Amino acid sequence: MEHLKSAKTILQARGLSKHYGGVVALDAVDLDLREGEVLAIVGDNGAGKSTLVKALTGAIAKTSGKVMIDGQEVRIDGPADAKAAGMETVYQDLALVNEISITKNMFLGREIVKDNLFGKLFGVLDFPKMDAKIQDLFQKLDIRIADIYRDAEAFSGGQRQAVALAKTVMFGKRIAILDEPTAALGVRESKMAMDLVCSLKDHGLSVIMITHNMQHVLNHCDRVIVMRLGKVAAVCDVADVDGDMLVGLITGAIEQKVG
Ligand SMILES: Nc1ncnc2c1ncn2[C@@H]1O[C@H](COP(=O)(O)OP(=O)(O)OP(=O)(O)O)[C@@H](O)[C@H]1O
Ligand SMILES: [Mg+2]
Repeated sequence: MEHLKSAKTILQARGLSKHYGGVVALDAVDLDLREGEVLAIVGDNGAGKSTLVKALTGAIAKTSGKVMIDGQEVRIDGPADAKAAGMETVYQDLALVNEISITKNMFLGREIVKDNLFGKLFGVLDFPKMDAKIQDLFQKLDIRIADIYRDAEAFSGGQRQAVALAKTVMFGKRIAILDEPTAALGVRESKMAMDLVCSLKDHGLSVIMITHNMQHVLNHCDRVIVMRLGKVAAVCDVADVDGDMLVGLITGAIEQKVG
């Protein structure tokens, strides 16, 4: 992981805040994501982790703060801006749309139209082509979903999460942001999800991953941001911490170690 210390910073946030009325969900948070790293965000329930990610990607309107990509400030007012900036996100609470098929979920907003007059004039979708791309990807990633034509709600939590992660592998350009990719997954699914996270990194993406699983932080991440009460309580190299220390930082039993 030593080599990453010299890696350039791909994404920066400065002074990100989100207020809900009187509730300060996010309080002047700074974040740096280095090229090629997996950066974990940890913290208790309600610490502001999901809010941080949503403010970064424009899923919610931030109260204040700015975001920079490659050192240039970018305006991210919604998910489309985030995608255009190379960010692909799997949100904790809205990973897939229930009422539509796996194929439609995978290509939502990025559908492939037929390469003929019908496609060009009427936007007729090329389902065989989309299906083939998905089957190919699922095979590569060892995702076992037989019937991609069924609505997403017919699948288990683990299968749905795997599909959402596969989407980041297919479309993720530079940055993948994952909000608890292994929450509510069984042992096999959880391992598969972490293998997918590693394959994102192998594909050259930089990854931000929110998790409550300290083993995943210690085994798969390069650095970790600890959040407490809407603020950054600590930023550490994973090589410098152990599980007990992380828990101490999360609960506040151990004080600040930023750097
Ligand atoms: N839409 C909302 N309206 C009002 N308060 C909100 C809203 N969304 C989040 N909050 C508050 O913001 C704070 C941070 O919430 P957030 O969802 O970011 O926590 P989290 O760290 O992701 O927690 P978890 O580990 O449970 O997912 C909490 O106090 C929460 O109640
Ligand atoms: Mg959350």
